[in-house]
Amino acid sequence: MCGIVGFIGKNPEHVLLNGLKRLEYRGYDSAGIAVKSTDKIELFKAKGEIKNLEKVILPIANADIGIGHTRWATHGKPDEINAHPHVSGDKTWAVVHNGIIENYTELKTKLMGFGYGFYSETDTETVAKLLEYYFAKDGDEISAVSKTISAIKGSYALGILKKDKDGIFFAKNKSPLFIAKAGEEIMLASDIICFKGFAEEYYPLTDGIFGYASRGNIVFYDKLGETKIAPVALDLGEYDNLNTYKHFMIKEIFDTKTALKNIIEYYSEKTNYDKLKDFDFSGITRVKFVGCGTAYHACLLGADMFCEKTGIEATAYVASEFRYQKVKLGSDTMVVLVSQSGETADTLAAFELAKESGAYTIAIVNVEYSTLAKRADAYFPIKAGVEIAVASTKAFSAQLSVLNVFAGIFAKKIGSETDPLSDLIKLYETFDYGNLNDFKLLADVLRYNDNLFMIGRGNDYYVAQEASLKIKETSYINSNTYYAGELKHGFLALIDEQTYVITFATDKNVLSKTLCNAEEAKARGGKVILCTCFDLSPSDAENFYYVVRVKELGNSLQAVLNIVPWQIIAYYISINKGLNPDKPRNLAKSVTVE
Ligand code: M6R
Repeated sequence: MCGIVGFIGKNPEHVLLNGLKRLEYRGYDSAGIAVKSTDKIELFKAKGEIKNLEKVILPIANADIGIGHTRWATHGKPDEINAHPHVSGDKTWAVVHNGIIENYTELKTKLMGFGYGFYSETDTETVAKLLEYYFAKDGDEISAVSKTISAIKGSYALGILKKDKDGIFFAKNKSPLFIAKAGEEIMLASDIICFKGFAEEYYPLTDGIFGYASRGNIVFYDKLGETKIAPVALDLGEYDNLNTYKHFMIKEIFDTKTALKNIIEYYSEKTNYDKLKDFDFSGITRVKFVGCGTAYHACLLGADMFCEKTGIEATAYVASEFRYQKVKLGSDTMVVLVSQSGETADTLAAFELAKESGAYTIAIVNVEYSTLAKRADAYFPIKAGVEIAVASTKAFSAQLSVLNVFAGIFAKKIGSETDPLSDLIKLYETFDYGNLNDFKLLADVLRYNDNLFMIGRGNDYYVAQEASLKIKETSYINSNTYYAGELKHGFLALIDEQTYVITFATDKNVLSKTLCNAEEAKARGGKVILCTCFDLSPSDAENFYYVVRVKELGNSLQAVLNIVPWQIIAYYISINKGLNPDKPRNLAKSVTVE
């Protein structure tokens, strides 16, 4: 995680701060900038969000180059000392870094043996010291950068200043980095959203690229020497406008219906619809869906949908486990990588493994310029629009929708007569956000709990997992999810008169069984909140502490109708507790470390 930004031009501190604010979704444990004035590098750092950094920056005379960083702590606690930029012993070099230097302990020991001292607990400080070490040997900056990145193992996007150079050195491996030019001015950043309003095009860097940017000029190198990179057009929709909303989370939940419309429009286009046309699927015997967190929950539901529509067995995997489970892969396997950001390190590692095995890879991803979207064999965009809040909401609904369309397209290729968009069109026509006042009241009740329980069977269980995750990350309430049938096998022991048991019951096939499980909880004093799409008689409804009624869809996209109320409830619990739902503690939006 972490976000880096660099700028060559007037008022760098101002531009860096704006860039860092746009990158804050990548981490907000601490932030810092290094700005080069006439003959020295000035450093400013602060713990916490960018607004804290803003308060400590002093005016700098003649400044025209700078680098900045917003941190999600990996090595060392989130304090000012560990905040980036990090500097060399002679204060000549300053470095910002996103990624992890895996061999930093070994390098640190070696450098300490040469007499270098270290002031922080970070892996990044090693980079600053290595630059100093290599530069001392042959006096050439680009050679020092090249030798430094050869010595380090791991992932990095680096922005580097040198006290007596009027430019910024940069390097990339397995962490995103982009660079843009507007006349004489240059900006580099972890995400192209920083270029909005600055440039019309940008240079996407690939792994192994490093270089040097100075006024109006960028030189790129790879391991063979100087190289060229073609610029691509910057194409960003509206992304940081809260409109009348107080937080991105609630704004993004209310973007869901627009996302559904965008997906229908996009996949109605012949060329987008038939993305699998050149793919010989006849040899595919195994299909794996891989993702993390919310995207993993989408995979669980997506694998079920795929199996139902195509008859081909499909399995969902947590990306961080995928490499360590004995998963059979090969040219007869299709691996579907699901991700909002397309940069999640564990999902990328699963992708690499799939590629190495010869499997066919499909990316179902939101960020269209991301590594996964660019590198997979086929890319199915989820068209959710930019998602800023750390808790994923509209992207989940969009992932489910595209997974459904994807399964439909695949099914059609193997003989199905059904229109792949039919489930989604029905969802779009049925969709509503429910009764907000009811959700607010329920949030007010649930906020006082330390523990919640959620149960369901089949797809309802997967939705319960996602609802639980939303509540955990935005309200810090421990919400536990169980298969409804498992209740009596242990956790019933935890239920008493104080316990809320949220029961998802939207699948007709298992409705009566799930309701029996809810009764078991109720018999032990549990307060059962039922989430259902079925009509209940007034006397049945009275049986429950509360009923969250959603519309009945009759297809597997019911999950979208089921989750939205819980996204809204999670939002209101967070607000009622006085928390910031957009930036939960200890988390970051894009998890680019394993
Ligand atoms: O960008 P990705 O979809 O790959 O991210 C995966 C997870 O990190 C993400 O879904 C995370 O669980 C969210 N905070 C959930 O709201």
